[in-house]
Amino acid sequence: MSDVLPDVLPNGDVASKDPSSDADHRVVGTSPAHHDFVEKVKGTLLYASDWKLPGMLYGKVVRSQIASGHIVDIDTSVAAAIPGVVTILTAEDVPNNQIIEHASGGLGELSVAQPVLAADRVRYAGEPIALIAASEPEIAEQAADLVEVTYDELPGVYDVETAIADGAPLIHEEGNVLVNWNIERGDVNNAMADADVVVDGEYRSQHVEHAYLEPEAGVAWMENDVVTMRVSTQVIEHATQIAAVLGLPENKVRVIASYMGGGFGGKEDMTVEPHIGLLTWRTGKPVRMVWSRQESMLASTKRHPFLMRYRTGVMRDGTIVAQETEILGDAGAYPYLSARVLFAGAALAAGPYRVPNVRCTSRAVFTNNVPASAFRGFGAMQVVFGYESQMDRIARRLGLTREEIRDRNYYVKGDTIPSGESITTAIEVAQTRDLALRHLGALAPPTSPHKRVGRGFGCSMQPYGRTIWFRDHASAWLTLQTDGSLLIRSGVTDLGAGQAASLCQIAAEVLGVPLDRISVYIGDTALTPPAGGTFATRQLYMSGNALLRAAHDLRETLTPVVQELLDRPESEFRWADGRVSAGESSVTLADVAKQCHEHGVNTSNLYTWRARSGQFDPVQGQGGTFPDYTFGTHAAEVEVDLKTGIVEVRKYVASHDVGRQINPVRVEGQIQGGAMQGLGYALMEDCPLDEGQPLSTLFANYLIPSSMDMPDIEVVVVESGEGCGPLNARGIGEPPIGPPAATIASAIEDAIGVRPTELPITPERILRLLDGGETTIRIPQTGEEQ
Ligand code: MOS
Repeated sequence: MSDVLPDVLPNGDVASKDPSSDADHRVVGTSPAHHDFVEKVKGTLLYASDWKLPGMLYGKVVRSQIASGHIVDIDTSVAAAIPGVVTILTAEDVPNNQIIEHASGGLGELSVAQPVLAADRVRYAGEPIALIAASEPEIAEQAADLVEVTYDELPGVYDVETAIADGAPLIHEEGNVLVNWNIERGDVNNAMADADVVVDGEYRSQHVEHAYLEPEAGVAWMENDVVTMRVSTQVIEHATQIAAVLGLPENKVRVIASYMGGGFGGKEDMTVEPHIGLLTWRTGKPVRMVWSRQESMLASTKRHPFLMRYRTGVMRDGTIVAQETEILGDAGAYPYLSARVLFAGAALAAGPYRVPNVRCTSRAVFTNNVPASAFRGFGAMQVVFGYESQMDRIARRLGLTREEIRDRNYYVKGDTIPSGESITTAIEVAQTRDLALRHLGALAPPTSPHKRVGRGFGCSMQPYGRTIWFRDHASAWLTLQTDGSLLIRSGVTDLGAGQAASLCQIAAEVLGVPLDRISVYIGDTALTPPAGGTFATRQLYMSGNALLRAAHDLRETLTPVVQELLDRPESEFRWADGRVSAGESSVTLADVAKQCHEHGVNTSNLYTWRARSGQFDPVQGQGGTFPDYTFGTHAAEVEVDLKTGIVEVRKYVASHDVGRQINPVRVEGQIQGGAMQGLGYALMEDCPLDEGQPLSTLFANYLIPSSMDMPDIEVVVVESGEGCGPLNARGIGEPPIGPPAATIASAIEDAIGVRPTELPITPERILRLLDGGETTIRIPQTGEEQ
């Protein structure tokens, strides 16, 4: 094991500059169809809910019917009497009935515990109250309906502004504001007073469902006295929390992650884990739990609705001199990861623009709505709609084009961001914008007299990697087998974005082992070295760097052995096609491995890679935030029907600087998927709640875009070669979901002359904007404002 990087690197260091980054790559930068690609196409991959064990029971959660109240009584007697019902558990059966989330590392947040099963108080519709295990899923379902819960209803709070008002009912006795972040630099008040023009804007976003194909699911069983589970999760490290709930030592819980049919942040918190853990531990039997779609939509975490207020001071030439942003995020009833989501919102509130005097405050506010937590983009995406809307508004106010206002204010390498850090990697945001606009091609005329065509774009800046005060690290373990094949072991979980497969490509590149001779084992707390969860666009950055270094170190260990076999200088070695060659001579990796075994040389290597780390001072509002950022721009052409309010997205281009592409097809897939998910957020997705009760819990009335709704997403990749990931890659998992809402709003404004400020931009909202008298419809000229 080697650990050559210092623990704490100065801000702005590119911690991962790789010596081989300029080499000619053979495997990195190609898109081989291997590993999970193949199993998914064949339909043979086993997801969490495909797992069956002998004697397996079926678990079901009894959930609160009301959003706010006291539990007076839970009567399980009728349900328990049904033949086939094996156990019913309530709060008193849970050894340690609380989960305490320190999402911000404890910085400035209330300490609020969440019960695993509600005991005396319920705080949202869908909150778990009891657990059932039965011999058949239908019996568990029937029993759940027959558990009689008597409530004493309490007044609830369903919006953030009510929740922060004086005298609001308390959701938790600790208070209604979970955390209040402030990031501040310069002298905002004076700079604002000196500005030529001050522009205000208020923007609102909605609750959104992750809507993965695969709902929450897992199977647990007892094995050698260990509570073992195979779960659809982004984070196997929750094993420690599950152990705490069960009152067991951590070595008595093992979590195995199956390949996921989507995560998007919705499987970053625990879902079924504590429940199947409890049921298995109490019954001694295997237990499977799969949430129905309705249950998933009712009770799974959502994206935080943001209320964003912007005030920007600009000079007449367009230079921004001051900006104040206030964000309120609806956290719902429990903390989950709201503290960190709202931190990202505050840190990214100014986007990719230089603001010398800046104050960003953000609050995570409790309500009696369904809890909100991680969702692709994680607070840094909601604000894109805010800062890009604001930029377009300023442009209009000053009579500048949308490009001009941005060109005056884009960050350049070395600039200081609101947290006081400087960015020392490439900032190619202007290039992505020029490319995205160019790829839209010629403007097409409207298809009917009652339609209007418009174009717009949106730029974004999205962090990748955990907030740096978490001192993040990831390990990867490689073994060259005696026949020259290779094993990779990593605690990474795979959401379907190629987290496992990209590790194979990096190892193949460095060691020359063909891809079909590499096996990768992931996501098992008992058998794979910890890699941290798959979230925060961190896994290529973290595990990719760990694997790259593990492979380099292994190659270094093998080199003297190769030298002995080949009798040539190391500088001539070429590691490819399962061989090491030097000039005319070569040796197979199998021969190298055999020679190692004869000499007692270890052919395994475990490497722990550490991310840049630092401190953030929540009082001063200054310090370290994220390791690095991914920049990009999306551009769209829309056609708006003035009679129906329907917006058709006719063309869409998405461009991001990904540093370096490890696998271009997977990069394209991430960008297309993110853009599509972002377009759903922009135009149709919403979870309306009526006093905390969800009004849409099926795909019949929760609309996500289908292939019929959307155009092809054209992807234009920029490779600056300056990321902090392996071979200077940047993360691309979350970034592409940021720009779509701003892009579409900008295009709609171009088409109808009025700017939507509330999401989603439904036909009803378009018609209201058109009726609002805020605009005179005009037909935009080709190239206008472009
Ligand atoms: Mo994420 S939203 O950090 O899975």
